[in-house]
Order: sequence, then structure tokens, then C-alpha cells
Amino acid sequence: MKIVIIGCGHVGLVSAVGFAELGHQVVGMDSDAQRIELLRAGQPWFYEPDLAELLEQHNGNRITFATDLKEALVDADAAFICVATPTRPDGRLNLVYVEQATHNVAESATTPLVIVEKSTVPVHTSKRIIEVLEMDGKLGMIEVASNPEFLREGAAVRDTLDPDRIVIGVRTRGGTAEQVLRGIYAPLVERTGAPLLVTDLETAELIKHASNSFLAMKISYINSVAAVCEKTGADIDEVARGMGLDARIGPHFLSAGVGYGGSCFPKDLAAFLAQAADVGADMSILDAVRRINREQRDRIIDKVKQAVWNIDGKTIAVWGLAFKPGTDDLREAPSLDVIPALQAEGAHVRAFDPAAGQIAKSEFPTTDIVADAMTAIEGADALVVLTEWREFAAIDIQQVKDALRRPIVIDGRNLWPVEAMAAAGFTYLSFGRPDVVAGQVKRAGRN
Ligand code: UDX
Repeated sequence: MKIVIIGCGHVGLVSAVGFAELGHQVVGMDSDAQRIELLRAGQPWFYEPDLAELLEQHNGNRITFATDLKEALVDADAAFICVATPTRPDGRLNLVYVEQATHNVAESATTPLVIVEKSTVPVHTSKRIIEVLEMDGKLGMIEVASNPEFLREGAAVRDTLDPDRIVIGVRTRGGTAEQVLRGIYAPLVERTGAPLLVTDLETAELIKHASNSFLAMKISYINSVAAVCEKTGADIDEVARGMGLDARIGPHFLSAGVGYGGSCFPKDLAAFLAQAADVGADMSILDAVRRINREQRDRIIDKVKQAVWNIDGKTIAVWGLAFKPGTDDLREAPSLDVIPALQAEGAHVRAFDPAAGQIAKSEFPTTDIVADAMTAIEGADALVVLTEWREFAAIDIQQVKDALRRPIVIDGRNLWPVEAMAAAGFTYLSFGRPDVVAGQVKRAGRN
């Protein structure tokens, strides 16, 4: 089938290579001419595992990149809108690019097709798209569908080619839009057996925001339970394991620590909260989710103070700047709050991240960003861990102890077993687990 992708950002480009991999003919479009040049040369403008390889494989045959929308839309079955939806200061999404893209398609299309909204949008955006098409006299010739993406950064290609589910929202069950979308996804369903859920437009739109908010809620929930563990002597790792064995709860997204960041959860929660307020629905549960997540960043500073006493004049090493491992993305990362807070207390911060170091240099102009993990901790008064990169856990803890001036580790991602850190003689504070003070495990509420 022929598919046009409008907006070759994270979602659009990954979808484009995914559709090409499924055997479709894909035309990628973007308003940024420089991006199109790069993509034509086979160079994705951001890193995502397997993306460059798949692009190289299909570029020039199943995928082409174009600037003439009218020509691209001829005989296309679908145009996927994957443009940016930036957050406005009030938390609502700015949908002007979605509106523009819809107008452009309506004006340029000369043959029937389906407009598919794939960018994350609030409920009723499809209604607006329909209104635009009506105004432009194209509704009917152009149909509308919603097909939210659920891909994670760092696993986006994998998530696209092996999804947990495919969600399709349509105006009329069994109509053209459903048939086209079913056709597009048929090879994927056949290959992976992924369930394909067809709903009305509003339901499909809501599934996306409801899912991401639920995942964020899981994280804030486990972080709240971790705080109770710290007061009672229970161990969050085992509490989470015990909870996760219940099939209704599941083992994922129950890692306690410094909390979530990234481009999706904070943005999606804000948008969902704003929408709920607009329609007069009570989503106050998400207010708590956000507040708890913000407080995790204060809690780690409290732990640093608890361990090192005065921060003023101390050298604090930070391992991990990206919002999660496997990415160089700093958006809404805990490091953006934690490092300035340490500096405000008078600390000299020396930081390392395996991927985000270069980008971090402009984001943290007053922070010493170094090229490797050991240099960061050499002679430091304490180590603070903010991202659970695998290479950190692989470093011998004895080596860490020898490099630090004082053997203090504040672990925002529960990277090491408490017993091992105690045996090695650390002062080790993590989340939801007993403190270790100078090699002694201190369990609250126990004798
Ligand atoms: C998320 C959703 O997972 C994805 O479905 C959606 O399409 C986009 O948003 P992403 O932002 O790439 O994807 O990251 P994800 O891997 O979900 O992690 C989000 C944040 O939660 C990270 O900061 C991570 O460190 C944190 N996290 C995750 C926890 O603190 N604890 C956990 O148990 C899981």
C-alpha cells in the first residue's frame, strides 16, 4: 500500500521505516528541508537502535523523501500525521501543526485517502480534523482515523515491529478507514499475532493518554510505597516482586527511584489533566502522580544531605544525566533539577553520562562534564546515581570505593544490592531500602 508520512520526527520516521519493513511504499515529508536532505542521504537526524540500518535497507526503494505534497499524495492509501504537538505554558497541547497538516492534505489530495492522526493528541482532535475537511469540502473523499503510537525511546523500532497492541479509531465500523488501516497492519498482525483493536475515534484517542498516565501512576505509586518501606524496614525490591507476581498487577514499571522524566510522561500527564479540567472530569489522581514525581527529586537531595552533612564546598559526582538509559535525551530528566539543586547548596558537581555528555555541556554550563565514570568519582565526597546505565552496575564497587574520597553513594536507581554495599563498607542510601551507614545496615522500625 502507499503511505505518506507527514512529519519525520521520532514517531514519523520510525513509523516510516516500520511500514517499509512491512512491505509498503512510503513517502516521508517534513517541513524542515535540511532534515529531508539528511534522510535522503540515509542519515536519521536522531539516534534510535536499528533505525539507520532499516533506513539504509529501504531508502530509495520502499522509502523516498519528498517535498511536493500534491505529488506524494497521488494514489496514496493513507497520510499519517506525525507532526509535533508542543506543550503550551498551561499544559495544553499546541495543535496548530496538526491543523496545518490537515489543511495541506485537504488542499493537495486529488485521490481518495485516509488521514490518520498518529501524533499524541487530546480527545476530540479527530472531530476538529473532520471539521477542517468539511470546511475544505474534502470530507468523504478523505476519511479520518486515529492510530496512536506506544513506542518507547531506545526501543522504538522494536516496539513498532512487535507491538503489544494496535489501536485504530474510526468514524464508521467496517468503513473505508478501517479497511485501509487493517490492510496496512495485516502483515504485522500476521507476523506477530498482535491484537488489533478497532474503536471509535474518541476511544482510540483516549487510550493513548490513559495508558501513559497509568504507567506514570505505577511509578509514583511504587515510589510512595518505597517511602513507606523506608519508615518501616520493609524492602521495596521484594515488595515490588511480591506485587508483580499478581498477574493483574504485573512486574513492569515498579522500579522505585528518583522518578520518571522524558518527553512523554510529563507532557502527556499535563495534557490529560488539562483536558479533564476542560470537560469537568476529576483527574486529581494525576495531580498526586505529578507531585510525588516532583518530590522524588527533593528526596534525593535530602538523602545527599543526610549522607554528606554539609554540601557546601563538597565535590559531588553524578553518574547519569539522560532521563533513562539507552538514550542521550535530557528532556525533563531528573538531572535537570538535581544538579542545580546541589550547586545551589554550594557543591562542585562533576558528572558523567555514557551518551548525553556532549549535549549536557550546553545544558549544564557550570558543571564539570567528564569523559568517563571513574574520572567523575576520583576524589569526590559522594557519588549520586541518576540513570541506571548498565555500565555503571558493571563497575567493581571496590574500585568505586577506592576512587571516592569518602565512600558515600546515593543511589537514585537502586543499582546495587544493599548487602553488597554494606559488606564493602559504604554509606549507601537508596530508595525504599534500608540505609547503610559506614557498612552497617540500619533498618527502620526493627531492633
Ligand atoms: C513512554 C511510554 O513507555 C511509551 O509507551 C510512550 O509511547 C512514550 O512514553 P519513554 O518516555 O520512551 O516511553 O520511556 P519509558 O521507558 O517508558 O520510561 C519513562 C520514565 O520512567 C524514565 O524516566 C524511567 O526512568 C522511568 N521509570 C520507568 C521509572 O522510574 N520506573 C519504572 O519502573 C519504569
